[in-house]
Amino acid sequence: MKTTAKAPANIAFIKYWGKNNEKLRLPANSSISMNLSGAFTTTSVEFDERFKKDTFFLNDVVAKQEEANRISKHIDLIRSIAKITTRAMVVSKNNFPKGVGIASSASGFAALTVAASKAAGLNLSEKELSILARLGSGSACRSIPDGFVEWKMGNSSNKSYAHSLFEPNYWNIYDLIVVVGENSKKVSSTEGHAIAESSPFYKTRIVGMEEKIKEIKLAMKNRDFTRFGKILEAEAVNMHTVMMTSAPPLYYWYPETLNVMAKVIGFRERGIECYFTIDAGPNVHVICQGKNYLKLKRKILGIDGIKSVLINKAAEGAKIIRNE
Ligand code: PMV
Repeated sequence: MKTTAKAPANIAFIKYWGKNNEKLRLPANSSISMNLSGAFTTTSVEFDERFKKDTFFLNDVVAKQEEANRISKHIDLIRSIAKITTRAMVVSKNNFPKGVGIASSASGFAALTVAASKAAGLNLSEKELSILARLGSGSACRSIPDGFVEWKMGNSSNKSYAHSLFEPNYWNIYDLIVVVGENSKKVSSTEGHAIAESSPFYKTRIVGMEEKIKEIKLAMKNRDFTRFGKILEAEAVNMHTVMMTSAPPLYYWYPETLNVMAKVIGFRERGIECYFTIDAGPNVHVICQGKNYLKLKRKILGIDGIKSVLINKAAEGAKIIRNE
């Protein structure tokens, strides 16, 4: 059987940085995110006795060895659960342009998990799919449920998964991704998580997490955009402080990143409310309410050094879109 699934990327408002268990990808803290309507991966998986070996195509080309090894490991895990040994053909495509620095591992592993498990004959629950996606790439577990999502850290594999806090239409929030550069990561996020603990600020970050999560969930429940924005912006700087003070230090920001951050603060001071967050890369995610996004988009396009702006609303999670 051939199954095709579509899964969104997600932006974390409370970030996942650092793990309690490397192999099981158990995070050091819970995290909160929103699925992105404008950045997704579509993946089809087919198991067939005629296939002599696994083949993986990513964005129309055969996957590189390192990528292939990671996909292969994930497919092996799904095969072992389904008790099959059949080889697979995986064809995966991102709708966002390559090299713009949008991480494809969350949408990629979420789409792969949903498509491969169905094609292997399994009928997994959302919780089971989220756990499985997490084992491929931590943040992928948040791309399984709909809309605004919480990943509860859990202290074992079966307890570490994501669930939906609110449906996509609960709150008209936009993420304008300001692309300032290609994210040719020298250090992958997997390696980054492993050295997070070496920062002297890591312990302080983790201690404050549960309280911060409680506060942001309350702000989301009350649709209190000002409270929400202040928490998510401070949180992004908090995570980057840990990154920049780990050994070796990880500097993801470019001069253009800082310029966009300063512009966001300026827009806000002049009455257009918006806040920034930044993942393990140089691009800036500008978070705003629906009523302001067009005005902000025009303003952002006028900033020097930016390459493009990608518009996102909250989106549903990973779904099967075809069974053949
Ligand atoms: O899922 P990973 O290993 O690619 O880690 C994601 C890390 C951040 O994007 C920086 C934060 C997050 O919670 O998405």
